[in-house]
Amino acid sequence: MAELMSESTASRPVAPAKVFAFAGCEADSCFHDVATGVYREQSYCYDEDKTWAENLANGLPQRCRDLPPSERCWAPEDKWVTFLNHKLASPFGVAAGPLLSSQWVALAASRGYDCLTYKTIRSHYHPGHSLPNILHLQVNQQLPASGPGCQEPLIASAGVGADVIRTGAGGKTHICNGAGAGTASGTGTGSETGGAEKAIRGGGGGGSGGAPILAITNSFGMPSQAPERLAEDIPVAAAALRPGQMMVVSVTGTSGRPGVSFAEDLALAARTALAGGATALEVNLSCPNVGSSHVALYQDPPAVELLLTGLAEVVRSGGGGGGGGGGGGGDVPLLIKVGAFPDSDTDGMRRVLTAAERAGAGAVAGINGLSRRVDLPGGGGPALGPERPSSGVCGDPIREAGLRFVRAARQVIASDNLGLGLVGVGGVTQACHVMEYLEAGADVVQTATGFMWRPHLGTDFQRLWAAAGYTARRADGRGGRG
Ligand SMILES: Cc1cc2nc3c(=O)[nH]c(=O)nc-3n(C[C@H](O)[C@H](O)[C@H](O)COP(=O)(O)O)c2cc1C
Repeated sequence: MAELMSESTASRPVAPAKVFAFAGCEADSCFHDVATGVYREQSYCYDEDKTWAENLANGLPQRCRDLPPSERCWAPEDKWVTFLNHKLASPFGVAAGPLLSSQWVALAASRGYDCLTYKTIRSHYHPGHSLPNILHLQVNQQLPASGPGCQEPLIASAGVGADVIRTGAGGKTHICNGAGAGTASGTGTGSETGGAEKAIRGGGGGGSGGAPILAITNSFGMPSQAPERLAEDIPVAAAALRPGQMMVVSVTGTSGRPGVSFAEDLALAARTALAGGATALEVNLSCPNVGSSHVALYQDPPAVELLLTGLAEVVRSGGGGGGGGGGGGGDVPLLIKVGAFPDSDTDGMRRVLTAAERAGAGAVAGINGLSRRVDLPGGGGPALGPERPSSGVCGDPIREAGLRFVRAARQVIASDNLGLGLVGVGGVTQACHVMEYLEAGADVVQTATGFMWRPHLGTDFQRLWAAAGYTARRADGRGGRG
């Protein structure tokens, strides 16, 4: 039985839940403008026409600040999940990227997301790429993580595209029949699979009808606030959390900085995060511009082990001496963020996960966006300009790749008895997708694109989670909760 709690009345500590009131947990209907579909075309909480620095300076768009309090179903505490020694009220959250600062963290924490990853930070201020940073894509199929299909350029589009998505070869697509996305009668995951073509409809939440495909590419160049600003803002973000929520801070290093190696630079960023009170650190190993090796860092087991070993030492020593000064550390857990592995490369994944665990990592999160060449329509050349021919594809079309990663990683973790938690990311745009990831073996599920365009996903999932009795049918027969 879950307690229905209005965010306006939420206070610490969360009272033990007594009354289950699923029918009373309304969707975040304030996000749905069915008549105009206005929030389908533009991100709700990010201005795509402005740079990252402008978004940060402007803060949350006014429409987010004006939101009425949301209602969510809080699970009773005995149904909370344990992840990296933290108690989470639910196994759902926001992946690294959309939470630019404490304002965004507070928004997510108040709308049904519990595992919140503060956007990747560096040791120094970095403005990232100029515009455009986000483009919509004309994609109506699940994209493979590897193979010849990856060479096909994708085409940018003016806005949210087709409403039908086809499965990739051998893949299957989960249909949200509404149960997973907003109907009060939702008692299951809305799962159906099979067939070559599946319509993803009826799941917009709150009875909004169809849910158009969300397919974007993003290219930000991993911007970062300065350490002094982060030292102020990360504690504010941490203070926005309620019991049952946790904040992970994503960190990366920069190669080529004078007199500082990539590993040393990463340690500086980690110290800033620890000083600010991060309860977990996620090392972003998944971007092509990380490190100097010809493969992405996450596919290089010795490099992963070396880096993680050094970082674990920083954490053990309490993180002292870095930007923002002292504090934090001790037993703060480490996650690694990885991209997709080639489908046939389970051994490669095994070597990386084993190396990460040996070096002290407590969890792995994947996947990042799938790197693809993105062109303008009509042979107009690279959509992001000649300097950026390829970029990360996110949203609906990468869900199968994300699920495949989770299934394979779960299998490796189980067979090799690795002490790693597993965070599933990629293409979660409706509540039923979260269930699909949990069933595939994820301990926690996160969304990036979904949060930006459909912030109501958090409360949608909380209603579905309650209706499912706070449990998922794990493919490997493990217990229902993480
Ligand atoms: C706007 C945006 C910014 C992102 N920035 C980061 C980042 O700073 N660090 C990171 O590890 N991943 C970043 N990502 C990748 C996401 O964390 C996630 O792995 C990817 O988008 C796939 O999830 P999705 O399909 O839910 O978007 C970003 C994604 C988006 C959409």
